[in-house]
Amino acid sequence: MSIQESIRLVSKGDIALIELDLVGEKVNKLSTPVMFRLQEVVKEVAAGPFKAAVIISRKPSIFIAGADIEEIRAMKKVEDYRVAVTKAHDIFNLLEDMRIPVIAAIHGACMGGGCEMSLACDYRIASDDPSTKIGLPEVKLGIIPGFGGCVRLPRAIGYQAALDIIVQGKAVDSRKAEKLGLVDRVVHVSTLEEVALKMASEVAAKGKRVKRFKPKGAMGAVMELSPARSFVIGKWKDGTRKQTGGHYPAPLKAIDVIEKTYGFSNREKALATELDGFCEVAVTDVSKNLINVFYLMESVKKKTGVSGDVKARPVKSLAVLGAGTMGGGIAYVAADKGIDVRMKDINYAAVSLGLKHARDLWDKLVKRKKIDRYEFNRKMSRVSGGLDFAGFGQLDVVIEAIVEDMNIKKKVIADTAAHCKPECVIATNTSSLSVTEMAKGHPNPANFVGMHFFNPVHKMPLVEVIRGEKSSDEAVATIFELSKRMGKLPVVVKDGPGFLVNRILVPYLIEAAWLLEDGMSIETVDRRYKKEFGMPMGPFTLMDEIGIDVCIKVSKIFNESLGERIMIPPVMKKLSASGRLGKKNRKGFYLYDEKGKQLEIDTTVYTDLGLSSPSDKLSADETIRRGIFPMINEAALSLIEERIVETPDEVDLAMITGTGFPPFRGGLLRYADTVGAKLICDELEVLAGKYGQRFKPCTPLKNMAKTDRKFYS
Ligand SMILES: NC(=O)c1ccc[n+]([C@@H]2O[C@H](COP(=O)([O-])OP(=O)(O)OC[C@H]3O[C@@H](n4cnc5c(N)ncnc54)[C@H](O)[C@@H]3O)[C@@H](O)[C@H]2O)c1
Repeated sequence: MSIQESIRLVSKGDIALIELDLVGEKVNKLSTPVMFRLQEVVKEVAAGPFKAAVIISRKPSIFIAGADIEEIRAMKKVEDYRVAVTKAHDIFNLLEDMRIPVIAAIHGACMGGGCEMSLACDYRIASDDPSTKIGLPEVKLGIIPGFGGCVRLPRAIGYQAALDIIVQGKAVDSRKAEKLGLVDRVVHVSTLEEVALKMASEVAAKGKRVKRFKPKGAMGAVMELSPARSFVIGKWKDGTRKQTGGHYPAPLKAIDVIEKTYGFSNREKALATELDGFCEVAVTDVSKNLINVFYLMESVKKKTGVSGDVKARPVKSLAVLGAGTMGGGIAYVAADKGIDVRMKDINYAAVSLGLKHARDLWDKLVKRKKIDRYEFNRKMSRVSGGLDFAGFGQLDVVIEAIVEDMNIKKKVIADTAAHCKPECVIATNTSSLSVTEMAKGHPNPANFVGMHFFNPVHKMPLVEVIRGEKSSDEAVATIFELSKRMGKLPVVVKDGPGFLVNRILVPYLIEAAWLLEDGMSIETVDRRYKKEFGMPMGPFTLMDEIGIDVCIKVSKIFNESLGERIMIPPVMKKLSASGRLGKKNRKGFYLYDEKGKQLEIDTTVYTDLGLSSPSDKLSADETIRRGIFPMINEAALSLIEERIVETPDEVDLAMITGTGFPPFRGGLLRYADTVGAKLICDELEVLAGKYGQRFKPCTPLKNMAKTDRKFYS
């Protein structure tokens, strides 16, 4: 890459125009060579005859995406971070201290280091384009803004608004940025450069400025005083501790740095405090794991789902069979991303509910001002519904989401294929049935695959693309590409019981029922998995969400296919009889109010199931190992022996995005590597001796233990 060409200095009379356009890269990012080049250009501008400067990007919708994460990932020692961050401080200080005013003309993503660079400028103008987002997402990578963001953002917009952005890793659009005082003006993208240059001429006469937050009104002034500030910051600390469960150190560290440096007149001291905070969190395993997870997600963008260079077929329109919970969700997501969708059901009431589901979700976006009425109408016009096969001859894809019954599905697939063009791909959203078997309903099984979404479809990022025995590469690539277009993260999995995620998750859920049987309380088990291990919710809450009836049904299917690893405890059989379905009938392990909000534990569960009062005699370690180690065992079998997926990365990505497995642990198999196969195997043997053969470690895991191997070598 020609670094000289990546940051160019163009003279516009007495205004210096600094153009950012990293050669050979899709985005502008602040790598070490880019930072050095920036320093060179800043010095050149400072030494030149200029009266003001404008920094602008020449990329279509990126200002600066941030620092180079690859460089952060490669750093191991505190000293490495210190050197790199100190250099960035020096360069941004140089920019801030230039004798002439500098304007950042922002169009597109202005994130992390890019936002921090703009904060070292005197003025910021932004385009009103939807691609323009300004923010500091560092905490999502387990670090804090380290190029001055923790110091300069609060200085510019006040500590309260800055906490909101930094602690949550948020980005704001240009209108919100203007409201906060983060940008001075918002203009149409076509006039951005012109307005910035004009503004540069105007401010040249006024000279430098440092944008300092000015509180509004008497109340605003009070909030700046130290007692009010301590109170607000204290609230942020409490809320953040609660939200992160103590598993993510970066957001708390960011609050700490903002608290210590706010209103500081000594910039160097403030930046030194920020640097210390940055180094403290950057070296943690949590940060390394979160950066790995970021790469896991990014890697999907480059994948096609197949190994050769087979091309996905273009998808302009699709149909969803079944307008229920899943069908309605799938139709919403597809239409939301610009695909024409037809919903077909067997009764009008279901179609109406499916359409209402989409309407309600877009309505919420209108209320939150995320989309306007025009956009709402455009999106709504993309979904239609009916009971017949009208228009199916033009469709590129049909997604089947009807009742979970093999015979019905096979028949419906055959009927559907008869109405579609031969190259139309039919995909099933089945969660437990064999895709290979179901493909027998299709006249050409090559054009049949699985497309397993997770519930709720609009929130859950994972899609398992299931390759049946006869699925063609082209069909797999088409559904993989379609999933990406729908904003999802697809993982290709081989056909098999429960595919990947459910197969790994079910032993964990069943073990919770065994823990209940063994005298543990619902409360303690849920708390230990959520608070101590970091799962998004405890297993009993999750079973209530999924539906206890569904869990029991799936467990039975798995027991038939996976044998002794899935042993259903007696309490689960009794649960079937007790009329507890979970959240959907407001009677599960917990009670729920009319709106479905979880209330307290339904203590009648214990008597209904014939259990005595829980004794909670097991240690936290044992409680957690009994649920997590069988998941690792199942994952080892799926990956190494059955090749359900090809790499440990895919297991980790699927478990994080499909079940919320704690990202700070890097994924199930990264976690397993930190514990070690030997310890896991030994513990599984002990548990098998104590509780039964369901814990028996599988051969691949035993081999790993013997040879001291890791999943990630
Ligand atoms: N609910 C979940 O959490 C979840 C998650 C992943 C996958 N799935 C799978 O998705 C599928 C649908 O599940 P759901 O929860 O949305 O079910 P649902 O009961 O909410 O909806 C099924 C819909 O299909 C309709 N239907 C039945 N026969 C039909 C036919 N011949 N043609 C057209 N429509 C027909 C029904 O009228 C109903 O509206 C199942 O295969 C299920 O295993 C469900």
